[in-house]
Amino acid sequence: MDLATVGTDIERVIVTQEELQSKVAELAARVDADYKDRDLLLVGVLKGAIMAMADLTRAMQRHIEMDWMAVSSYGSGTKSSGVVRILKDLDRDITGRNVLIVEDIVDSGLTLSWLKSNLESRGVGTVEILSILRKPEAAKVHVDVKYVGFEIPPDFVIGYGLDFDEKYRNLPFIAVLAKHMYS
Ligand code: IMP
Ligand code: MG
Repeated sequence: MDLATVGTDIERVIVTQEELQSKVAELAARVDADYKDRDLLLVGVLKGAIMAMADLTRAMQRHIEMDWMAVSSYGSGTKSSGVVRILKDLDRDITGRNVLIVEDIVDSGLTLSWLKSNLESRGVGTVEILSILRKPEAAKVHVDVKYVGFEIPPDFVIGYGLDFDEKYRNLPFIAVLAKHMYS
């Protein structure tokens, strides 16, 4: 989907398709190097992480496994509720595994901080986080995110997996949603 199709729904593009592709390639190379000679299970957080997972894993030069979790902390609005529910759990046991959580965005940090402790309670070997975006000014809890694509201002953004009311996930770039869309 291109810029013309979204028209005035967006305020501005903040990360272009080219910037995303080169950043993802750079992160893939870092992960490859860091996990050299270790098994690696990537856990994508549905649905926002689908684009990141697809691009990241295809840029990697090694065997990986993928699993997915779906958690919910957002309704159809734009503010984090802080309430996390598991909608879909992992398919396989992660005891002793090296897990890298793949996320679209760290906003308040509530979801990831909860998810990380949840995986730790299952006897995971190591657990790290990769997130395409991070909003440092929106943080409510501290979470260690080892791999961050871009730090952005605390505006509501869409595209590259990120939705507003389930739409705009298929934009190949990241844009700030226009205020008139939700106020
Ligand atoms: P948290 O506030 O860090 O717990 O964010 C939880 C989830 O809210 C993220 O994984 C996203 O799915 C969603 N989210 C947070 N900020 C945005 C945004 O700007 N656009 C779209 N979704 C967002
Ligand atoms: Mg998400």
